[in-house]
Amino acid sequence: MTSLLLTGIGELVTNDPTHDGTRLGLLDDAAVVLDGHRIAWVGRRLDAPEADAARDLGGRAVLPGFVDSHSHLVFAGDRAEEFAARMAGESYAAGGIRTTVAATRAATDEQLSANVARLVAEMRRQGTTTVEIKSGYGLTTLDEARALAVARQYTDETTFLGAHVVPPEYADDPSGYVDLVTGPMLDAAAPHARWIDAFCERGAFDADQAHTILLAGQAAGLAGRLHANQLGPGPGVRLACELGLTAVDHCTHLDDADVEALAGSGTIATLLPGVEFSTRSPYPDARGLIDAGVTVALASDCNPGSCYTSSMPLCVALGVREMRMTPAEAVWSATAGGARALGRDDVGVLAAGKQAHLTVLEAPSYLHLAYRPGVPLVAEVIA
Ligand code: NIG
Ligand code: FE
Repeated sequence: MTSLLLTGIGELVTNDPTHDGTRLGLLDDAAVVLDGHRIAWVGRRLDAPEADAARDLGGRAVLPGFVDSHSHLVFAGDRAEEFAARMAGESYAAGGIRTTVAATRAATDEQLSANVARLVAEMRRQGTTTVEIKSGYGLTTLDEARALAVARQYTDETTFLGAHVVPPEYADDPSGYVDLVTGPMLDAAAPHARWIDAFCERGAFDADQAHTILLAGQAAGLAGRLHANQLGPGPGVRLACELGLTAVDHCTHLDDADVEALAGSGTIATLLPGVEFSTRSPYPDARGLIDAGVTVALASDCNPGSCYTSSMPLCVALGVREMRMTPAEAVWSATAGGARALGRDDVGVLAAGKQAHLTVLEAPSYLHLAYRPGVPLVAEVIA
């Protein structure tokens, strides 16, 4: 395998605090050696070892590829009309999910796969190198299993979200639907999934149902994560912390007990500010969470309803501008934070032995991700 020395890195974000004592682990005039799909060495240009080949990045900033730990890419159709109605004053409701369920059931595997390929490529062009993908728009045993099989073609981070909403054919029998999700649907989904998730929210699943679903998933070998406290206050965040889940996502409506539970647990709070942007809703209190000692991740939640953006740079800019994160906190949360939210230590950090996933910016500093919102700053993705 040939090694490659990257030089001319104006600013390197490593997320390895040993370099400078900060979480971002910044290095100026840095170099990185890649060996196949691993990083072999990281440090200052002057100390760099020899390699088979070399490339000068011309003073550009480099950071770990974004780790987008929350997306819903397996779907058909879109809901642009719903978005327009929302911008004209209607509010977002979980029920819109059923529109996408109907379109997804009617699509072929090839159509679903082509849509995922398009969105994953779109993410890659914006610097994302690791993505989690959920099912949740099939809601039959067959449709959830095929959604996960499609997702698996693109990532190992696949999540079974049969408990997204109760589908129309079970409207009069929600507990029958929970039996299906925890029984035959789970059996069909588990071989294609790493994670199990539920939408714990009024209009979707209550805490008892979410608890039952998460425990069934864990018994089938899946690790738990949860959608909670998105549309209003509720017990989901506390449930996630009690169960010691890896991550709980949205965290928009929190009270003091929720923040305390998060701070006292190892559960990562994944904030999805594209949702609040796209539903014109108040943002989660990232500042309060970080100040309370909670580990925060940022993710896109890319889906056709509440948030149809695939852009992690947008999430960073929103984190800074709308949620009072510092640029350093937002960039950390979109890289190392996302990795933690997926229980991964091989991505989200640039250090010897880690995956060679690097995003090169058309900018001298990571600060430009927040400073220049809406500008296509990703010059190149190396992965
Ligand atoms: O994360 N909250 C539940 N699911 C998605 C929205 C899905 C949709 O509206 O289609 C979310 O926001
Ligand atoms: Fe989501």
